[in-house]
Amino acid sequence: MRFASLRDLVSDSMAIDMGSASTIISVRGRGIVVDEPSVVAVNKITGEIVAIGKEAQGMQGREARDVGVVAPLVDGVVADFERTQKMLDHFVQEARSGISHFSRRAVMSVLSGVTQVEQRALMTAAEHAHIGRVYMVEEGLAAAIGAGVKLDDRHASAVVDIGGGTTNIAVVARGSIVYAHAERIGSFDIDAAITDRLRRHRGLIIGVMTAERLKMDLGSATEPENADKNLTVKGRDVQTGSPGAIEVSAAEVYGVIQTIVRKIAEEVKMALAELQPEVAADIYDRGIVLTGGGALLEGMEEYLARETQLAVRTADEPRYAIVHGLAQLFDEPLLLRRVTRNEPHFALDAEAGAFEG
Ligand SMILES: Nc1ncnc2c1ncn2[C@@H]1O[C@H](COP(=O)(O)OP(=O)(O)OP(=O)(O)O)[C@@H](O)[C@H]1O
Ligand SMILES: [Mg+2]
Repeated sequence: MRFASLRDLVSDSMAIDMGSASTIISVRGRGIVVDEPSVVAVNKITGEIVAIGKEAQGMQGREARDVGVVAPLVDGVVADFERTQKMLDHFVQEARSGISHFSRRAVMSVLSGVTQVEQRALMTAAEHAHIGRVYMVEEGLAAAIGAGVKLDDRHASAVVDIGGGTTNIAVVARGSIVYAHAERIGSFDIDAAITDRLRRHRGLIIGVMTAERLKMDLGSATEPENADKNLTVKGRDVQTGSPGAIEVSAAEVYGVIQTIVRKIAEEVKMALAELQPEVAADIYDRGIVLTGGGALLEGMEEYLARETQLAVRTADEPRYAIVHGLAQLFDEPLLLRRVTRNEPHFALDAEAGAFEG
């Protein structure tokens, strides 16, 4: 009894994907335990955090007078250090079962091309959440593993992760990244474009949740089958400032979405044009795997297939691909050590050493 409770004080390995839209955590042996929006509600006067995650999102758009809902991560990187730290701390605590306050280890995904400062911020946040050892792994590699790419495969595979704030294109072979490129465009840009369109052309200002709902319920990357399908959306009239409602059709939403998905497709094509010939040959044979919440947009697969002239498939549970990939690394300790990208950490230590020397 006593030993069991002692053991319970330390929870085991965690895989953490903290994105600009959502934070997802899985715990070894228990699966996904946290899937919450990466937002915090803040008291604008005192700066105090009043809610985190789902609870904060529930307030979004209908905040109390002195409360603001903010996203501490922007475009996949830490924009607000203190709130990122508190948010991670909260989610990690939620992921731990019961009374434990400490986790032995965690693997976290980090966007390719983040600066040392940005990665250091994540690392420090994890340390504050009482995690013993933190392994940072590049997002593209984690997505590939989670999407079913075999690590001993010598042929290259391409994975395109479309998140809220970023689109990350990665090509992996033999368990290593051979090419990665992250662009600051994602599914949030569709919401923003819808909001902008309705404000400028229809005279209605809508909230972020309404824009996202329009995208999910009516949106499509390809010509909608039922272009006349309508939804009533409500918001505030631009002219009068009073509450108002309009009908929005699938055709109108499709027109807006086109401008964004075209840019995403351009990024993917540009990335593919930079590959070495042998790698390009592999991708020609195998096509592309999609991950991330943006892949769930109706017609996305088909649209990218048409634009790139390649076979495109979406991973199972695309929003969880990264965290599934990270979790698999716990079963391959040698590989985990090889792919860990903690250099900035060591670089900082080395710098510190240089000053001491
Ligand atoms: N069924 C759906 N249809 C269309 N879009 C969807 C659907 N489900 C989720 N999304 C969109 O996916 C986005 C979130 O994706 P994801 O959780 O992969 O982002 P993230 O990893 O937090 O962001 P990033 O990787 O850019 O930091 C949101 O913009 C959301 O609106
Ligand atoms: Mg992501």
